[in-house]
Amino acid sequence: MARILITSALPYINGIKHLGNLVGSQLPADLYARYMRQRGHEVMFICATDEHGTPAELAAAKTGEEVADYCARMHDEQAELARGFRLSFDHYGRSSSGRNHALTQHFAGKLAENGYIQEVSEKQVYSNADGRFLPDRYIEGTCPNCGYDKARGDQCENCTKQLDPTDLIEPRSAISGSTDLEVRETKHLYLRQSALKGEIDQWIDAQDGWPVLTTSIAKKWLHDGDGLQDRGITRDLKWGVPVKRGDQDWPGMEGKVFYVWFDAPIEYIGATAEWADANGKTDADWERWWRTDKGADDVRYVQFMGKDNVPFHTLSFPATIMGSREDWKLVDYIKSFNYLNYDGGQFSTSQGRGVFMDQALAILPADYWRWWLLSHAPESSDSEFTWENFQASVNKDLADVLGNFASRVTKFCRSKFGEVVPEGGDIATDANLDKLAGFDAKLAEYVANMEAMEVRKAATALRALWAMGNEWLQEAAPWTAFKENPDQAAAIVRVALNLIRAYGVLSMPFIPDASGAMLGAMKTDNAEWPTDLNSALSALPAGHAFEVPENLFRKITDDEREEWQAQFAGVRQ
Ligand code: 2FM
Ligand code: ZN
Repeated sequence: MARILITSALPYINGIKHLGNLVGSQLPADLYARYMRQRGHEVMFICATDEHGTPAELAAAKTGEEVADYCARMHDEQAELARGFRLSFDHYGRSSSGRNHALTQHFAGKLAENGYIQEVSEKQVYSNADGRFLPDRYIEGTCPNCGYDKARGDQCENCTKQLDPTDLIEPRSAISGSTDLEVRETKHLYLRQSALKGEIDQWIDAQDGWPVLTTSIAKKWLHDGDGLQDRGITRDLKWGVPVKRGDQDWPGMEGKVFYVWFDAPIEYIGATAEWADANGKTDADWERWWRTDKGADDVRYVQFMGKDNVPFHTLSFPATIMGSREDWKLVDYIKSFNYLNYDGGQFSTSQGRGVFMDQALAILPADYWRWWLLSHAPESSDSEFTWENFQASVNKDLADVLGNFASRVTKFCRSKFGEVVPEGGDIATDANLDKLAGFDAKLAEYVANMEAMEVRKAATALRALWAMGNEWLQEAAPWTAFKENPDQAAAIVRVALNLIRAYGVLSMPFIPDASGAMLGAMKTDNAEWPTDLNSALSALPAGHAFEVPENLFRKITDDEREEWQAQFAGVRQ
């Protein structure tokens, strides 16, 4: 039994996530966590909302809430949707937690102690009326290029020109509208990533079998252009982790907070500590996942994320950990994803384009989405959601193949033998098992792909196992056999009912609700992983009671598909 720490990239707090976000981190991480638990490993599966930064402040300003209230409300909403999608986090934390504050300040203190933090003086716009420095995008004015009067300090939305706040004509504060602005000298902290470049480079070289997508992005940032740059890790915002060295004040840093990308990955650790707090555990209980000097040396740590997050996880977060010179666990494997596109374009949060998690659950159960998303995960390249493809997958894989198998077998058995696994015949000679000869090899393929986090290939193998059962049943035709030889029909049905249990177990990581329904209908708690066909067929003995499951999956009609296509063609308000 191994110990496996799994983290999913933390979703930003500002707004409900779309299906592209979901399939790029939380959903495949859940697939892996569920699988590893089923195989008997000890799993710690962690996620949290990423709550700091300008976007959170701006989103709260838009709804008129205090940012803390906004974050609390959105956290609960996201947590509820995560439950809806059956994401089986051991803990869903918040980067604004006390734990994360303390850990972030701790890391900053250690990094400073070890010479990896540099204080840099910069000139920045200060608003007298607001009593604060303004980040670039909090300054508005007229674009010197096109005359647009709502250009932001970092960019003009109208002509896309990149700007400096000092370029703007008649600059004003986006918070108060005040024009009483001045340029002041202010200090910021930089993480000296350049000083850790060699160490990071070696560490990446030493990693075995990381996906090309992961290492190529890391190497590009390490070596292209001027190589790994030092990075500003403080901001002039009110909402965030106050800048401190451990629990000491940091002279000159009053009123500043850490940059969101500095504290967010530390929340992987923070959320594990929150898990301990929420479950009456001790510090030792979470530290054994994270401190190699306190038991974490045998932990395998796997991270899941979209490709845009890779630089932060291969460079910045490792720099934070290495530079602390403490015995924190570094990631062992990074599974990264390309993008999922939506019907000929991109999913977009800012433009409200695509299907969002709440909308998806409002129209169909989680399993339908989980199956489609995972079986089309954008692994080797970007992939695309279309309603046609979604309808075809659901109707064929789930309804025609798996659902139909379970329903046909159980209904047939009920009508001929009653709701118990029937006695009679000999499985070995009567059940036409040679049609299932490929089962063990397919199962091995499924397992190998699950172990390797090859999500699409695993889905393909699982689907093949379902299809094999269906084809076997078609040939074995117990309804025909029954007329001449009821004992033979009984043996076939016994195999089929056991296959339903096996499918329930094997499909659990992908479609947990339907899998639970299959096991429930087979009235069994035996969720033991079948190691081969033989072990799969001996779980439910003759005489074991079962019931016919409610329709496991329903088909998506053409009318529905067209209706949803139209409903989601525009932008979300
Ligand atoms: O890109 C994003 O959605 C970020 N919120 C991911 C953060 S991952 C981690 F480092 F916290
Ligand atoms: Zn412009």
